[in-house]
Parts: sequence; C-alpha cells; structure tokens
Amino acid sequence: MARTAFAPRRTLTTISAISCAIALCAPAAAQANVAAERPGPRCEPGAPGLGDTYYPTYGNGGYDVRHYDLEVAYDPATDVLDGQAAIKAKATQSLCSFNLDLVGMTVREVEIDGSPAQWTRSGQELVITPKHPLQRGRSFEVQVRYDGIPHEFVIVLPGFELRTGFMATPDGATVAGQPEVAAGWFPVNDHPLDKAAYSFDVTVPTGYEVVANGFLKDTDTRGGTTTYEWDAREPMASYLATIDIGHWDVDTWRTESGLPVYDAVDSAITGGLREVIDSSLLRQGEILDVLAERFGPYPFSTVGAIVDNQDDLFFALETQTRPVYSKYFWFDAQGNPTNGDFVVVHELAHQWFGDDVALARWQDIWLNEGFATYAEWLWAEYEGFATPQEIFQATYDGIPADDPFWDVVIGDPGVEHLFDNPVYVRGGMTLQALRNEIGDDAFWQLLLQWAASQSSRHGTTAEFITLAEQISGQHLDALFETWLFTAEKPPATASATALAVPNVSAQAQGFAEQWMATQADRVERGRY
Ligand code: TRP
Ligand code: ZN
Repeated sequence: MARTAFAPRRTLTTISAISCAIALCAPAAAQANVAAERPGPRCEPGAPGLGDTYYPTYGNGGYDVRHYDLEVAYDPATDVLDGQAAIKAKATQSLCSFNLDLVGMTVREVEIDGSPAQWTRSGQELVITPKHPLQRGRSFEVQVRYDGIPHEFVIVLPGFELRTGFMATPDGATVAGQPEVAAGWFPVNDHPLDKAAYSFDVTVPTGYEVVANGFLKDTDTRGGTTTYEWDAREPMASYLATIDIGHWDVDTWRTESGLPVYDAVDSAITGGLREVIDSSLLRQGEILDVLAERFGPYPFSTVGAIVDNQDDLFFALETQTRPVYSKYFWFDAQGNPTNGDFVVVHELAHQWFGDDVALARWQDIWLNEGFATYAEWLWAEYEGFATPQEIFQATYDGIPADDPFWDVVIGDPGVEHLFDNPVYVRGGMTLQALRNEIGDDAFWQLLLQWAASQSSRHGTTAEFITLAEQISGQHLDALFETWLFTAEKPPATASATALAVPNVSAQAQGFAEQWMATQADRVERGRY
C-alpha cells in the first residue's frame, strides 16, 4: 500500500541523486522551478560519516543537531514502533543533501521545514535532498515519519552473544547498547561527536509505563493509550538515549544535596533481590558525593536508575542521567542476591567520564572505562576495603607478564577489543601509575580540571595527556606510551610501582583478588 503511494517519490529521488552525482549541483527539484533561473549557490552533499578511526561511517557531516523530538508509539503486542522524529539542526556547510543514520525501519515521509524532501536509503544511510540547498549556518528542521520493528544489535563475544539495541522484552522494551543502538530506532546523527537535547513522547497501551533520560514532564491517557513525555535538555550523545517500557515501581526522591532522583525498578523484581537492588539505589546520593569530591560537581540536573527484570539483559549502560542495569549485577556466582554497589558507582562515574565528557572517537574508550574503573577503586577506599594503590599493586603482581591481558593496547584496542577487560583494568591502572608519577596534588587537580574543561563536550587521549603535562609540569609521553600504547606488561621500574605499598594487607589483597575475579567474570558474561 505505502509502496505504491511512494513510488513516484522514489523516481524523483533517483533523478536527483544522479544530477547531484555530477558534483556541485543544484538539486533536480530546484533546477525544475523558476528560482533556478538564478544560478543556485554552490553546495555539496554532507559526508556520510564523521571519520571515526574505528567506525568511519558513523554519524554524518555537514550539520549539527540541536534537538531531537521523538514521538513514538510502541505496541508490545506486535513490537511495531510508529515514529515521527523532528530534528532541529544547523548546517555547517552548504548542503545539497545530507544523511541521517537509520538501520531497518520503513521511512514513509521526509520533510524539511514543512516541505516534502526527497530521500533514498542505502545501507544505514538515509540520504535526504532538500528542495533547495541549505545554506551554511542555516537552521532547519527535518521531520521523518517511519515505522517498523526496531533493530537489535547482537555483539558477538567469545562463546556468547550479547543482545543490545532496542530489545523487546516480555513486558515492554529495553533500549541500550554501545556503540550501536540509536540508529536502530530513530533517524540520527549517530556519533557521540554530535550531542543534542532530546524529548521523547512515547505512547504505549495504557498499563505500560515508560522511563527515559531526564525529567518526566507529563502523562496523557486517552482511548486506551498513554503518552509519557520525557525531556532531556542536557546535551547527550546518541547512544545514551534510552526509553524503557514495562511495569515499574517508581521511586522519586532527592539526594541530601537536593538532586532529583527518579528510580524505576521492574515490579516483577521482589524479595531478597529487590532488597539488595533498593539498598544500592538508596546510596546513589552518597556515591555521587564521593565521586563529586574528586571529579567536581555532578554534571546533570537529575539522576536515577532503570533496573529491568529482563532475563537476557547482561550489561549495564551509562544512559545519561539514568543508567540501565541488568539485575544480574546483584547476583553472586551461586545465584544468590548480593551487594551490587560497585556497578552503580561505575555507571554514575560515567556521568562525568563518558557522558558529560564524551568520546570524540571510539578508539579513546579507555577514557570512559578506565576512569569508571578508577572510580570503583575510590569507592573501595571509601568503604575501607582497599586503596587504589593496593588494588593496582595486587593486580599488577597477580597478572604474569606472559598473560594475554597485557597484549591489548588500550589506547588503540581495535574494534574487536574495544570493551575487553584490559580496557577497564589496565585503564584504571594507567591512572594510578599517573598518580604515582605526578603526585596526589597534581593528579586530583587534573581530574577536576579534565571534567570541568571538557564539560558538556568531548575529550581525546591526546588532550588528556596535554593537560596532565601542563598541570604536572612533567614530560609524560613515556608513561603514556608504556601504559596505553605498548603490548607488554609495563616494567616494575616504571612509575608502576614507584610508590609501592610495603605490604598490601591481607584484607586489601583479598578484596583486590575478588574484585578482579568479578570484573573478569562480568566482562566475560556481559559488559559494564
Ligand atoms: N560502557 C558500558 C558500561 O560501562 C558497558 C558496555 C560495554 C556495554 N560495551 C557494551 C553495554 C555494549 C552495552 C553494549 O556500563
Ligand atoms: Zn563502563
């Protein structure tokens, strides 16, 4: 039905694509009308990717998104999502055409500032040709009407496939994944380089409930459906956007410092498991205080958690202001409920490092995972289990030089090893080695300044090294070369053990071993 209706538009699009291929073109539509008598301004197609060293085609060039307004209706009975995306953007060059990323789904209609635009699809690229070229600096709004069953992304791990993306669950849906998730359910400039504000209007059959990033503004029930309006104003990388549909026990409260918290725990989670989850979530204010002391003020205006009962959700993700957690972080190896505070520390640390200071390229992933790991070590110290140096040293001593652990070059791990255990653990160790080298004052100053100077933006490894050298007044190339870019166990003579603790207490040793075992296990069975 829709196919027939849209057949003429397809034809037009083809013509325009050909004429545009002749370079510096005015689009076919413009040529065909009177305005084209005057020579059209020069324009070029926006690049189909942002040139990420690992994922060159992710994101698109030529424009900058300011705001995504996503109006979606989702029916858990059919898994079909009916979407209308209104995307406010600004052209950063003169555009004959530009791309959005979209995987799967059926596009029905595209408009720019209310006028129909031509479009084609090619793989993950939705190529949009406006009637008239968009001048550099021009603000515009793209509207895309689309529908279909949202796409999941399966991450193949050794002996195990990790389900991610827009995941239908027995009672709704979970939306989380990294680096791929957003393009599976809305048209997007899908790279962390293009942060934007989001609003989500999610319509579900009445009885289902929706949690997302930011603030719940309103709910509206009519004719058997309920619309949840969520607003996330603070600029956010696309992979951090989440909507989660289910039956939630919602707890809204404020931390002691007054930060609004919105926690959603699947109502099907009860008993002892529910107790340990609730007890971790109740510590969020305290955790943020401990982190804020070292990283600076919490960067966002709300916080909280989303804990689904989904049996095949095997990871947590730092979705902005409201991380998504697998319930399994609160299970021990025997399947009994256990303390899961560390995963909350980890995801909340990502709010500074990962979310507020986002990656400019995926290769720098250690800036996310190494810092979140270091935050866990700070928490271990706060809890009186072990100091970061003790955990560092026990880990260093515990992994022999011929262990494949040391083979991963965490400053350039490659797509295949992006989230391997060493990215986390050696990443945390790198920070401790740095701390040992430059001393506590410079180190704490560096973390504060890194978070503050890049706030709401991005950071690269090179920028971090520059700042570390500036603040410490030391040359640090050798240290970072050793820790980030060498596929070997750093020698004990390096700053690694310069401040070696004479004897790591038995308690600290025990904690470090257990922490490492848990860490290895969670990277093997899932991710966080
Ligand atoms: N960054 C996530 C976290 O720290 C973990 C993660 C890594 C992940 N790779 C993933 C989550 C892939 C989902 C999919 O919590
Ligand atoms: Zn992480």
